[in-house]
Amino acid sequence: MLLTVTGTGPRSRARALAAALRAAVRDGTLPAGTRLPPSRELAADLRLSRGVVTEVYGQLLAEGYLTARQGAGTWVAELPGAVTVPPPAPPPRPHSGPPPTDFRPGLPDLSLFPRAAWSAAQRQALAQLPDAALDYPDPRGLPRLREELARLLARRRGVAVHPDGIVVCAGVSQALTLLARVLHARGHRRIAVEDPGSPPQAPLFAAAGLKTVGVPVDGEGVDVAALRATGVRAVVVTPAHQFPHGVVLSAARRSELLDWARSCGGLVVEDDYDGEFRYDRAPVGALQGLAPDQVAYTGSVSKLLAPALRLGWVVPPPALLEELVEAKRTADLGTSVPDQAALAAFAAGGRLDRQLRLCQRAYRARRDVLVAELTAAFPGLRVSGIAAGLHVIAEFPAAAGPRARLERAAAEAGVRLRHLDEYAISKGAPSLRLRYVLGYAHLREPVLRAGVRALAARL
Ligand SMILES: Cc1ncc(COP(=O)(O)O)c(C=O)c1O
Repeated sequence: MLLTVTGTGPRSRARALAAALRAAVRDGTLPAGTRLPPSRELAADLRLSRGVVTEVYGQLLAEGYLTARQGAGTWVAELPGAVTVPPPAPPPRPHSGPPPTDFRPGLPDLSLFPRAAWSAAQRQALAQLPDAALDYPDPRGLPRLREELARLLARRRGVAVHPDGIVVCAGVSQALTLLARVLHARGHRRIAVEDPGSPPQAPLFAAAGLKTVGVPVDGEGVDVAALRATGVRAVVVTPAHQFPHGVVLSAARRSELLDWARSCGGLVVEDDYDGEFRYDRAPVGALQGLAPDQVAYTGSVSKLLAPALRLGWVVPPPALLEELVEAKRTADLGTSVPDQAALAAFAAGGRLDRQLRLCQRAYRARRDVLVAELTAAFPGLRVSGIAAGLHVIAEFPAAAGPRARLERAAAEAGVRLRHLDEYAISKGAPSLRLRYVLGYAHLREPVLRAGVRALAARL
């Protein structure tokens, strides 16, 4: 307890402690209902003899400031006019009726998080960490994790990287922040992003001093001619599964994009946010593998394990590496070492691969159910972006519209839909087309079925 107890002998220290406790009770620092520490602990904290503390507790009990409950310690008593600890809020009332079906994109099934295997990895990692590893970390990340990541990224994503070329960070979001700071320090003031894209990126880049410039996306991915016309020299793209359109960047566009980067000394930031979830054939390798000097590759465990872990990585072009490490050092002195060690142990035990297989099976089945239900319930509905990722785009037939009617019916059916317009970077007039982004990975099959059927029935 933060109490000031001065005095030379035991008598004057006891008087000072009693006065400090009375004042704390009266002014609400110690509200009624607060449990006081056992006399032995308070004595040790305040460097007093235990006898002084028991004497003071006895005195304040007699004065009515404190109460003692048999075997349950010493508590601050109710004093007229004194502050009371508020009673705990009542638990929220359980939701009645069917739960809403929220087709929020970008969310994995959090109930598939491998709690037992993750805690085992945490225990194993902590037991093996030497004391020295609990000091401030290397801002690049734990060497053991970087070695695991280098192997994994090379094998699964075709990323060309040495462990020393990886910087561990708090998800793709922090990777983008750090890259933005490096670019700003190098004189950049604008960064191009896909349009539609990820709206949270604009404030993230603005905080680093960069203005976002939207570049249109078509059926092959980002429009490189439009990118070239902006004159901007850095662009963030999602080649494996464009967010939110879901298109895979075509081979022709991949080489066009890398030609653009080489011709103007530009930087391509490859956000591989859900690149491993490809269902119908092997995932397309990362762009970075084709041009490590032009591409900064970034990814995280947010889709494979859980966003709450805040663990990710960035592989910048070698020329930016040292500046990026310094940006990471300045941002937070490095990522939590016990968390990094747990991820390293988890990956080394083959658990990341197993988790990917498990999630891929589950998400593919869910995608199939969603697509089948949608096309059965809404003849003429078109689905795209289904080859990969955790969401699809559904374009409802005109007969299901207009938009306001469809969206009202969805709300009444307990279905949360997000129109593609919500992801527009440059806002124009609302689109009349009924194109919605439907995340399905977090919804079990019966929920997906019930959601689509409830919407169809309401319409
Ligand atoms: C386009 C895109 N990139 C990246 C991420 C992941 O960010 P992070 O790794 O910081 O969790 C998301 C999250 O939903 C996203 O939508």
